[in-house]
Amino acid sequence: MFRKINNWCIGALAVMLMTGTFEAQAQPDGATLFKQCATCHSPFKDGTGPKLQGVREKWNSGGAKDGSIYHWVKDWEAAAAADPYAANETKVKPGSMMKFPTLSNEEIDAIFDYVDAQVENKPAAPVAGGDGNVEVVEQELPMGWIWLAFAIVLTVVVVSLGNVKNRLVLISKAKGGEDVEDVPSFIDDIKSWAWRNRKLTAFLILCVVIGVFVALFLGLYTIDVKEGYHPSQPIEFPHSVHAGINGIDCRYCHNVVTESKSASLPTVNVCMNCHKQVTGTTPEQQEKIKKIYEAAGWDGNQFTGKTKEIVWNKVHVLPDHVYFSHEQHVTAGNVDCMQCHGDMKKRTETAQVMPVSELNKIEGNIQLTKPTLTMGWCIECHDQKGISDGPLDTKKDGYYAEIHKRLLENDPKLYEQYMKDGKVSVKELGGWECIKCHY
Ligand code: HEC
Ligand code: HEC
Ligand code: HEC
Ligand code: HEC
Ligand code: HEC
Ligand code: HEC
Repeated sequence: MFRKINNWCIGALAVMLMTGTFEAQAQPDGATLFKQCATCHSPFKDGTGPKLQGVREKWNSGGAKDGSIYHWVKDWEAAAAADPYAANETKVKPGSMMKFPTLSNEEIDAIFDYVDAQVENKPAAPVAGGDGNVEVVEQELPMGWIWLAFAIVLTVVVVSLGNVKNRLVLISKAKGGEDVEDVPSFIDDIKSWAWRNRKLTAFLILCVVIGVFVALFLGLYTIDVKEGYHPSQPIEFPHSVHAGINGIDCRYCHNVVTESKSASLPTVNVCMNCHKQVTGTTPEQQEKIKKIYEAAGWDGNQFTGKTKEIVWNKVHVLPDHVYFSHEQHVTAGNVDCMQCHGDMKKRTETAQVMPVSELNKIEGNIQLTKPTLTMGWCIECHDQKGISDGPLDTKKDGYYAEIHKRLLENDPKLYEQYMKDGKVSVKELGGWECIKCHY
């Protein structure tokens, strides 16, 4: 009995996995896709971006060109150049909409369909890292699960019908006075077929397993691409003037970056260390620096006590289930800030998630291909980057030398294999293990 249950469980699982993966490709999932918009947009409320419910209708009836709204989502700048209606939309918060060049029209429609289907007044939780007033809409049961449930039910029905048929044969034989041996059940039929064609069966199972893995990984590589993300900030803080021209060390403002998980952002007191005196040369600068004074409650001579926090919008955001530590990369791994954030000394605008194509232009950076901040990006670097350039590097505290020494003592053969390419990569030390990055 249990063997049977076991068997059809496996069958059902295979069907589930297959339909699951096909489903994921066939139909774009508006709820998931909308997550990348939800940091700025809510269906019903204006936040960083305007509310999105009914926006397609608004554009169509407002006189936008055909297909202009898709163009907008893919590249608002190009859309604004091509369509006066779109150009008008850029006036809400100029330059703050993100570009999504990889979304297809179907996917964009799926997002709008999802948004239009939302009903207001549902209790909603705020999004971490986004605007305080942005809402996450409650997740609907995704279509994928409905298909899965359907696949399970179907499998159960097929198997039961097969068994019923065999039972009927058995009964009719018994009635006819025939000698009744145990007629093979439907599952037994399948099993014996599989046994007779075991090579084919093995091949089919292998195909399914490989297919599932490939689909899974291709999916993981590109989930939730944040490249180019450039939120607006309360003060137009230029890194170029500070870290560049004035040569201020990154750690002056991001003061825990070498010793903790987070890099931290400076408080207004840090700004005031200099800006009590530095009031700006041009009127433009003075205007910007005035905002620091408002936040610090500084009237030019003394602190009034009327402070107002500067709320910087977070630029680099990883999902909650990912663990990333600056100390591990900057101090232990000796990776330069530029590798992941670009050359901030030259950055005249506020910070942005630099596209990998830009990062690759910086001399000395490891060349990567996957979009910045995706899992593929992390993993690709862990494969390429050695924990040191040679077997006995001269890093002062002997950190790497110690690792190499231990590896050599524990398993000289394995060590030799690692060192074939001249390095022990982060991956070879476990940097591809799910648990290292996922809680
Ligand atoms: C970084 C913040 C941000 C993200 C992320 C973002 N948007 Fe926007 N969006 C804006 C802003 C700001 C505007 C207002 C446009 C302007 O002033 O330039 C806007 C405008 C729009 C408009 C026009 C709204 C109207 O009322 O006409 C649409 C449509 C839109 N966004 C769709 C999307 C979609 C779809 C996504 C996700 C795939 C998305 N946006 C992601 C910030 C964002
Ligand atoms: C004078 C203070 C100061 C110095 C020096 C400084 N930063 Fe910043 N940094 C800031 C402020 C303020 C922000 C928030 C505004 C923004 O996002 O541009 C910021 C933001 C950032 C961000 C984006 C943070 C996020 O939300 O994801 C990165 C990355 C960054 N800085 C890297 C650097 C690097 C690398 C250096 C050294 C080359 C450096 N910073 C030097 C003040 C400073
Ligand atoms: C290996 C890539 C990598 C390197 C090297 C790196 N960062 Fe980051 N940085 C990240 C990632 C990823 C995040 C987002 C972290 C998160 O959301 O948990 C981030 C976030 C930040 C932030 C936003 C605040 C925070 O802690 O979330 C600042 C500021 C920052 N980095 C500054 C720096 C500075 C300064 C250096 C060099 C001393 C540096 N980073 C080196 C990948 C890197
Ligand atoms: C170590 C000293 C120092 C610190 C700390 C500092 N600044 Fe500055 N900042 C300067 C100098 C110097 C200038 C250039 C002023 C000039 O050219 O007259 C400047 C210029 C600026 C400007 C005008 C830039 C422009 O050209 O448009 C802004 C805005 C600004 N700072 C914001 C900040 C903020 C926000 C902080 C805190 C996060 C901060 N600064 C911290 C030294 C500092
Ligand atoms: C530019 C290369 C680079 C990128 C990009 C990068 N890492 Fe790393 N990572 C390293 C290096 C080098 C080390 C080894 C540090 C050491 O020697 O302990 C490391 C180590 C780690 C470790 C510790 C591994 C262990 O074996 O203990 C974790 C966890 C980690 N990285 C997470 C991430 C995450 C998450 C991302 C993406 C958001 C990321 N890394 C992106 C280079 C990178
Ligand atoms: C080097 C760090 C690293 C390792 C190792 C790693 N991941 Fe990830 N993973 C990430 C990052 C970063 C993200 C978030 C990517 C994004 O937001 O685009 C992620 C996202 C995911 C997601 C998508 C969740 C979502 O946001 O919807 C899944 C599932 C996942 N990882 C599973 C795994 C599995 C299984 C393994 C082991 C085979 C693994 N990861 C190993 C860094 C890592």
